[in-house]
Amino acid sequence: MFKIILCVALIVLVGQGQGLRQKRTVAAQDPSRADLPTLYEHFTENGINSGLEATASGFMLNGKPLKIVSGAMHYFRIHPEQWRDRLRKLRASGANTVETYVAWNLHEPQKDVYDFGEGNNDFSLFLNLREYIKMAQEEDLLVLFRPGPYICSEWEFGGMPSYLQRDPNMKVRQFYEPYLDRVEKFYTQLLAQVQDLQFTSGGPIVGLQIENEYGSFSPKSKDYIAYLVLLVENLGFEKTLLFTSDGVGAGFSGTLPDRLFMTANFQGNPEGNFDALLALQPNKPVMSMEFWTGWFDHWFEDHNVVSDQSFANNLEIIIGNKYNGSVNFYMFHGGTNFGLMAGANTGGDISYEPDVTSYDYDAPLTEAGDYGGKYLKAVEIIDRYETPKLSRPVLPAESTKATYGSVRPTKYLNYEDILAQVPGTSKFFLADATSMEDLEMNGNSGQSYGYLIHRKKTPANNGSVLKAGPVKDFAFVLVDGVIQQSSFSGEGNRRYWMNSVKEVTLENIEDDWHNVDLFIENMGRVNFGWEEDFEQKKGLPSGTVELDGELVQGFEVFALEFKSAWVKSLSNFRNVEDVATLQAPLIVQSSFIVNGVPADTFVDMTGWEKGIVFINGFNLGRYWNDAGPQQTLYLPAPFLKTGENTVTVFEQLKAGSAIRFSDAPELGRRIERAINVEL
Ligand SMILES: *[C@@H]1O[C@H](CO)[C@@H](O)[C@H](O)[C@H]1NC(C)=O
Ligand SMILES: *[C@@H]1O[C@H](CO)[C@@H](O)[C@H](O)[C@H]1NC(C)=O
Repeated sequence: MFKIILCVALIVLVGQGQGLRQKRTVAAQDPSRADLPTLYEHFTENGINSGLEATASGFMLNGKPLKIVSGAMHYFRIHPEQWRDRLRKLRASGANTVETYVAWNLHEPQKDVYDFGEGNNDFSLFLNLREYIKMAQEEDLLVLFRPGPYICSEWEFGGMPSYLQRDPNMKVRQFYEPYLDRVEKFYTQLLAQVQDLQFTSGGPIVGLQIENEYGSFSPKSKDYIAYLVLLVENLGFEKTLLFTSDGVGAGFSGTLPDRLFMTANFQGNPEGNFDALLALQPNKPVMSMEFWTGWFDHWFEDHNVVSDQSFANNLEIIIGNKYNGSVNFYMFHGGTNFGLMAGANTGGDISYEPDVTSYDYDAPLTEAGDYGGKYLKAVEIIDRYETPKLSRPVLPAESTKATYGSVRPTKYLNYEDILAQVPGTSKFFLADATSMEDLEMNGNSGQSYGYLIHRKKTPANNGSVLKAGPVKDFAFVLVDGVIQQSSFSGEGNRRYWMNSVKEVTLENIEDDWHNVDLFIENMGRVNFGWEEDFEQKKGLPSGTVELDGELVQGFEVFALEFKSAWVKSLSNFRNVEDVATLQAPLIVQSSFIVNGVPADTFVDMTGWEKGIVFINGFNLGRYWNDAGPQQTLYLPAPFLKTGENTVTVFEQLKAGSAIRFSDAPELGRRIERAINVEL
């Protein structure tokens, strides 16, 4: 997505339902296709002599013409037990390729600790990338591989690991040796996982992207791009088509025109974009590497959508006869920013706009993998222009959705109970305020995600003023565990203190010694922008804390990471006697029974204010009611089991009375958004 966004037209669509709740009746396969070959039968029947080539007469794969119809689906945003279903639904649309990014920050959660599915990390389950790519081939799809190392993608820090920032001189995405060293170490591990899965070696990978929208970065370094090209060639990708993807307005600034195939990213105006691309790169096929099917959501906004009709009109022009272009739907199926992995933008009133947990994206397949209106339109249009014509799988059925009713909190830990269970390795005594990244924990990698508490035991008076900041990102002050309401500006649930300096008056306290806590939440590192936008330390990286005008020093610091293993280990819960007396911040826990085979459901936290939800120890993501637009969290069936399940909630601000499981998503008020990139 682009820094330069012109002419954002907003049309509010009030009262338009999602219309996706019922299972669709699935059409039988078109009998006229029954005799057609599969993709791999067609392209590899006489052995493999060459990979994907961008020629003056279009894409050729192993010497045969191909129009690429690809869909973006990220393995790290989809429960692995649902990978096959989603891949098959992509192939059943007539698409022939799946595109995926790679999330470096998941695969190398600590410096030099790699995880491709065999680790013991919160996301390990999702990280068998090799399996995902092999499965794509089993499902008769080619693969476009976009390993970054920077991916943008509304993903925490654009996929980069937070510990890069421990180097005070770090320059990510530039020709800066310590950055390149980390990239080289990671790529050496990563590309070894998939090197033999290139098409020319009998696998599905036909193209690899170099960096990501580098033309939108500043300052740019061609040496960095050249370095990445050399690196992937040396790691065995010299025969796979290497490409870049940018807004066409970036010209050649993000690519190496003699070496790399250029593609264009846009949502509308395909003619203008393709004409500009052809002017830059004549005698090559045109491809939209990111044809934005919808858009993502920030907290405090409405749910951004793109109309099915404008999507269809633009798709017809992209792949139709005039341009005979190729496409990658971004997204075909968005999935979910599980846990604390949603990214953010700079912008808005406070120069910071964090993203919600859902990555539904208003894409052809919904967050829960159901067929949206765009899916049916895409099938029609792909049918007209598919090259070559191939057989297809039958449309898989949509999943059943269940409601598991309403679960009351039965056990809880209050704020002090929680802090008492923070392990010694996550507690520090420090003279000065700190960032998360600079903490000495996680094998020299600092704290990446979660919450940070600066505690000062100090005399304070009724009416004392604590001044702190700029806080990164969402913060409040507690005195002896009681939230100070003057921490927030704004009304109702739209109250917050975020990314700024603030004076907080300590109210209704005795003139005495108190535990004064500054609680700060990392709401997601910025994933898009220029050099300065990627300085994204969290906590109190540059700020100070003052009490009644005096600098405060000597803190007890708690790093609250909320990793799964810790959440599962929590003990000494108290019994809930009366939900009305529960006081946040707190953790509540309850169990509930799933009878029979678990089904997809949606967690509705109405009545609560802001927090995170764990199912059987896995962090589904954030809720922030009324800050919305998102009102429910997608809970994929594979996180549930038959019998007893545990739901655990960390509520920061106001406990509710029940956790509800509903059979339909609520992503907020829909608003139509046209994103025009500068040509
Ligand atoms: C369109 O592209 C396909 C795939 O590359 C090719 O086979 C076909 O000849 C092209 N059609 C025209 C009219 O150029
Ligand atoms: C704190 O000050 C306010 C305003 O003067 C007063 O209403 C309140 O009773 C005081 N609280 C305590 C605990 O002294």
